[in-house]
Amino acid sequence: MARTLLSRGDRAVVETPGYPHAYEALRAAGARLLPLAVDSDTGWNLDEAEQLLRRAAPVLAYVMPDFHNPTSRSMSEDERRRLVRMAEDTGTLLLVDETTGELDIDRGARLPPAAFASRRSSVVTIGSASKTMWGGLRVGWIRAGEEHIAALAAARPAADLGTAVFDQLVVTELLGEFDDVLQHRTRELGTARDALLARLGERLPEWHVPEVSGGLFAWVRFDAPVSSQLALGARSRGCGSPPDRGSDSTGHSSGSCASRSPPARRRV
Ligand SMILES: Cc1ncc(COP(=O)(O)O)c(C=O)c1O
Repeated sequence: MARTLLSRGDRAVVETPGYPHAYEALRAAGARLLPLAVDSDTGWNLDEAEQLLRRAAPVLAYVMPDFHNPTSRSMSEDERRRLVRMAEDTGTLLLVDETTGELDIDRGARLPPAAFASRRSSVVTIGSASKTMWGGLRVGWIRAGEEHIAALAAARPAADLGTAVFDQLVVTELLGEFDDVLQHRTRELGTARDALLARLGERLPEWHVPEVSGGLFAWVRFDAPVSSQLALGARSRGCGSPPDRGSDSTGHSSGSCASRSPPARRRV
């Protein structure tokens, strides 16, 4: 997508902290990244976003308005509306990642940014079956205006001749009972979140854990720069945690709890 939507040297806004593989994909396409801060307590500063879009004229802005990875913040509907409006005003394409968007534990539904677009070509939305159904299913989707879809379809064979048919059949089958799959998944995530927050509150009350109402992540703030030590300690106890993944100089680090989806496994 990055190669199709961008040319070498184009500017792209990315959230920071954010999804590191998106940074890599955008950089590999030659993009110059412009950071937009997302705070784990207050979310997006849209005044700053507006200045960035007006001043730097980026070609695209990659955002996760639902259960942002890794802060788990979500934009309000007013913020979505405002972001889409400013992107349309400045000619910036919004690339909205909804990969974790359906993992709503107890937040409540919100309209996607595309619902506020006045033109189909203003927003490209992407998502995946991997977080709702099962991580082993390498099937994703793109929702975009016809001209973007045509460009993406034309560009795809150079990188990838197609998605595994078996995976697609599993996803098709699971879509038939998607509400149940999602309910099971969010119940599982809710249990994991409650356990994690309770244990952290009990054992490490000095760590700051913001509100988490969905998604896969809790962005925990330590009082000292200990994220590398934490990653090493977790690894020595058999718990995978990429060292310094997205951590920054203020000592932030992410902790993620992934759980497999039993309904998907049973169906497979
Ligand atoms: C925000 C976000 N987008 C995309 C992906 C990639 O999804 P997939 O595993 O389907 O490639 C992830 C995976 O963690 C993610 O967190």
